[in-house]
Amino acid sequence: MAGEEAVSNKQVILSDYVTGFPKESDMKIITGSINLKVPEGSKDTLLLKNLYLSCDPYMRGRMSKLDKPSFVASFNPGEPLSGYGVSKVLDSTHPNYKKDDLVWGLTSWEEYSLIQSPQLLIKILDTNVPLSYYTGILGMPGLTAYGGLYELSSPKKGEYVYVSAASGAVGQLVGQFAKLVGCHVVGSAGSKEKVDLLKNKFGFDDAFNYKEEPDLDAALKRCFPEGIDIYFENVGGKMLDAVLLNMRIRGRIAVCGMISQYNLEKPEGVHNLMQVVGKRIRMEGFLAGDFYHQYPKFLELVMPAIKEGKLVYVEDIAEGLEKAPSALVGIFTGQNVGKQLVVVARE
Ligand SMILES: NC(=O)c1ccc[n+]([C@@H]2O[C@H](COP(=O)([O-])OP(=O)(O)OC[C@H]3O[C@@H](n4cnc5c(N)ncnc54)[C@H](OP(=O)(O)O)[C@@H]3O)[C@@H](O)[C@H]2O)c1
Repeated sequence: MAGEEAVSNKQVILSDYVTGFPKESDMKIITGSINLKVPEGSKDTLLLKNLYLSCDPYMRGRMSKLDKPSFVASFNPGEPLSGYGVSKVLDSTHPNYKKDDLVWGLTSWEEYSLIQSPQLLIKILDTNVPLSYYTGILGMPGLTAYGGLYELSSPKKGEYVYVSAASGAVGQLVGQFAKLVGCHVVGSAGSKEKVDLLKNKFGFDDAFNYKEEPDLDAALKRCFPEGIDIYFENVGGKMLDAVLLNMRIRGRIAVCGMISQYNLEKPEGVHNLMQVVGKRIRMEGFLAGDFYHQYPKFLELVMPAIKEGKLVYVEDIAEGLEKAPSALVGIFTGQNVGKQLVVVARE
């Protein structure tokens, strides 16, 4: 009978802990097998078919053997990576999920996953948008942009907003959310193609290629002659130092991430932190998870805006689980244009 025989299950496993920049060879594709039924007697368990997997920068931290306190745990070498994805329920002993439900949230990097006591899965109720959007604009990166900008930074019409890594999964939304409230928005990204996207597709007022402007302070002074009210921090390092020199009094810095630091064995220092005092800058870190309780409110804003074309979203889609290692590694060199995801299966 269908579901009672084992089928093959391709997986992306971590070969060993990573130091420095991750490489494709830090991951391996192996083929195991799995029965497409929840084992008898397993309570609150789901058997998922994974459709889309999300490549997220925080996964880099999990590839290291972590020796400092962290909000995530290390992956285990020899086991599949875990991450956000969109999946279909094939079998369930959980009262809240049934066969053929679609969900987004934490799953494993493999074709099929057995998930016990799912806590980080959200049921997908609206399928009149691309399902892959639940790895991005309608998933964790979307909530990150929403929470970090609207909840933490309280943008007001006419304020000056700067976003780094601006063409990525989170950044492209931060800029568009800030435009929705009438801010003046500038972004930076690492190529001409990305800068064009920021200005011509996402409606940023201005943008620059940080790789061609080694004097970041000068680039920011040109784009923000009156200074920055809100900095949405995705990059850290030299960029943060230059931004601190250009913040206005009572500016806000929403610290979302610092991708320029993730592959360094010794993080760079921040030299201009004293600016925080004189300018009375509020700098606050946050996690997407802080805003999960606001997901329904978030959907009420974002879903109609997508359908009315007021928000656009660019994805970079890698086809097939075999492409997952190169797609993940690529986000640390800026290979992705837009939200990087991997298609495992389309239905
Ligand atoms: N706090 C949270 O809960 C949370 C949630 C999601 C994401 N984040 C953080 O948000 C940031 C953006 O994440 P995302 O998912 O939107 O990723 P993404 O922007 O889609 O991809 C990463 C991008 O970062 C840029 N980058 C890579 N190395 C860089 C470097 N050394 N210096 C400057 N830019 C670099 C690249 O674009 P360029 O071509 O422009 O260099 C790359 O495309 C990351 O810091 C991430 O950790 C935080």
